[in-house]
Amino acid sequence: MHVPVLLNETLEYLITDPRGVYVDCTVGGGGHLQGIVERTEEEAVLIGIDQDGEILEKTRARMSSHANVILVKGNFRNLRIILNELSITSVDGILIDLGVSSFQLDEKERGFSYHLDGPLDMRMDPELDIKAWDLVNKWPLEKLEQIIAEYGEERYAGRIARGIVNARQHRSIDTTLELVEVIRSSMPPGYKRETHPARRTFQALRIEVNRELESLKEVLPQAVALLKPGGRLCIISFHSLEDRIVKEYFARESRDCLCPGKQPVCTCGHRAQLKVLTKKPVEASPAEVAGNKRARSSKLRVAQKLEF
Ligand SMILES: C[S@@+](CC[C@H](N)C(=O)[O-])C[C@H]1O[C@@H](n2cnc3c(N)ncnc32)[C@H](O)[C@@H]1O
Repeated sequence: MHVPVLLNETLEYLITDPRGVYVDCTVGGGGHLQGIVERTEEEAVLIGIDQDGEILEKTRARMSSHANVILVKGNFRNLRIILNELSITSVDGILIDLGVSSFQLDEKERGFSYHLDGPLDMRMDPELDIKAWDLVNKWPLEKLEQIIAEYGEERYAGRIARGIVNARQHRSIDTTLELVEVIRSSMPPGYKRETHPARRTFQALRIEVNRELESLKEVLPQAVALLKPGGRLCIISFHSLEDRIVKEYFARESRDCLCPGKQPVCTCGHRAQLKVLTKKPVEASPAEVAGNKRARSSKLRVAQKLEF
């Protein structure tokens, strides 16, 4: 069961017009979408997008009594095209709740979990060509080390990458728990960490397989272009790499000039498009974290399209 994170906080920011047009770019099991349905009127148009067709079908069944809900299988990096195909050119609010859903984590065949034994897959869209297996068994040491360091922010990336390359010389690493064992045995003696030793490496592989950071960077300008003046973009992230991309984009698009500090006259012509509504990101309350561990690292940032 997937419990939506920061639900009330997100809905408070997102919905400015109960008869408006809203896009949930990561509809998943529809937890946030259900909240949007409850807080809007039947005249509202609600679009849900997910790249995982399996989850989308479950959500389609759950939402079947709501004629104003349109669900589309797709990657939010194609947001403009997806909305164009629905003849929608402007919207009141856009929600992006990043990361994996509990449905994906709990299905061991999907290979996202370091607790359950399954194939090394990790594709959110099962039509993607490359699985985690391909990275783990075919990638050169340097590339593995680089993504584990960069996307996992793992200080033992070098040891883990070497451990993987050594292990696969004997036979391929085929399952999640085989990989966990390799990671565990690559850690330095006496190593202790509060979180699971494979967490950062799994995060790195997942980000790479699904091109998560690229998709996020690509959707941001499209989302801003699609918002009506006064419309809001709400983004929930779960690790610092995602949060940094959102924070820096919001900061840039809420400034009028991007010329270097010492330049007396603006030559860039950049004009602010956004007002940031969350100076600090909204985080889950201790009560929410107590009931939902996923909420622990969540951060909600919200920006509003300026009125010209
Ligand atoms: C954290 S879950 C969303 C949960 C949802 N908000 C809820 O309350 O039920 C993230 C979902 O986004 C989807 N997703 C992640 N990246 C995506 C992308 N680039 N395009 C489309 N869907 C994406 C995943 O497949 C997953 O179902």
